[in-house]
Amino acid sequence: MDDTVDPVEYYERRFGITIEDKEQRPQKGRRKRDSGQEAQVRELADPTVLEAGLKMTYTPSRFEGPWLADALRGFYDRELIADVLAMIKGGKEACVYRCATTGPIPTPLAAAKVYRPRQFRNLRNDAMYREGRAPLTLAGKPLTERDQREMRAIAGRTRFGESLIHTSWLMYEFTAMQALFEAGADVPEPYAAESNAVLMAYVGDEYTAAPTLNSVSLARSEAQVLFERVLRNIELMLRQGLIHGDLSAYNILYWEGIPWIIDLPQVTLLESNRRSHAILERDVQRICDYFARQGVDCDAHAISDDLWYRYGQDEVWAASDFDLTLTAKD
Ligand SMILES: Nc1ncnc2c1ncn2[C@@H]1O[C@H](COP(=O)(O)OP(=O)(O)OP(=O)(O)O)[C@@H](O)[C@H]1O
Ligand SMILES: [Mg+2]
Repeated sequence: MDDTVDPVEYYERRFGITIEDKEQRPQKGRRKRDSGQEAQVRELADPTVLEAGLKMTYTPSRFEGPWLADALRGFYDRELIADVLAMIKGGKEACVYRCATTGPIPTPLAAAKVYRPRQFRNLRNDAMYREGRAPLTLAGKPLTERDQREMRAIAGRTRFGESLIHTSWLMYEFTAMQALFEAGADVPEPYAAESNAVLMAYVGDEYTAAPTLNSVSLARSEAQVLFERVLRNIELMLRQGLIHGDLSAYNILYWEGIPWIIDLPQVTLLESNRRSHAILERDVQRICDYFARQGVDCDAHAISDDLWYRYGQDEVWAASDFDLTLTAKD
């Protein structure tokens, strides 16, 4: 709803209802509203309060509103956020919003990543990353063979099983961010997770979110420094037994000289995924592709061979055994 629209008329049209306004539209014979109705009308007519009763300065579209309210309600209830200010980016896998925080969160702004409803997500390649990863519950605990009902649902890809996979996907992102943040990697601090959203530190200022690195041109000297910092981050991840799995300049935010690494749901376990060597090679290759364009002299094969030599397993599978036919922005 833009500022020129009368909020009362807007909600009348939107919900097909008539909102009586005693002061401005006196009409004979109409019943007087009780105070409860008046409060409801005030709430409906307040452009910043969603029908779910959540304050949102950002105006979601008709279909986005209920989905967004549902995904973020837990953060409001836990008094972690007080308002959604703007959408930072709406994409095919997730939408990210700038939120005003409250309570225990140390920064005034946070980023809420809300996943697309699972039935609309593209899970084409998810099996590749899920290999060797026990499904995680919303509490961040791995399911075990004792959780037979859940395991059967996942194997049979029932609706319940799909929802467990969806939660696990999101919880891998959250728990990987926790581990990496604690290890000192350049990832936004993760604050909280709900079944369809992750709340994390926001990178940017009150007007604009940080750009992704692919849209930034760097001076050669700065590119070299940043490249080395990204490599240090890859190494830090390997020390935690993790490979990003979709690392590229599209999943790095650039802000005040720091490369913030984001978008980790497909994080790959170094030790238990047969493709970890190939996935690491691809991550390094994509990073080198970007930095070579910025004038950095880098040899992706030499770097990933060295990393694999130092952190990889006595692998049975060579990277070349796998053809990872994924494009740069999956
Ligand atoms: N912590 C953050 N602070 C500021 N902006 C962020 C943050 N996290 C994500 N973004 C913005 O949201 C975009 C999408 O985030 P992310 O890469 O995690 O999701 P995605 O799964 O790639 O979504 P899609 O594939 O739908 O674009 C990023 O490119 C970036 O512009
Ligand atoms: Mg991304």
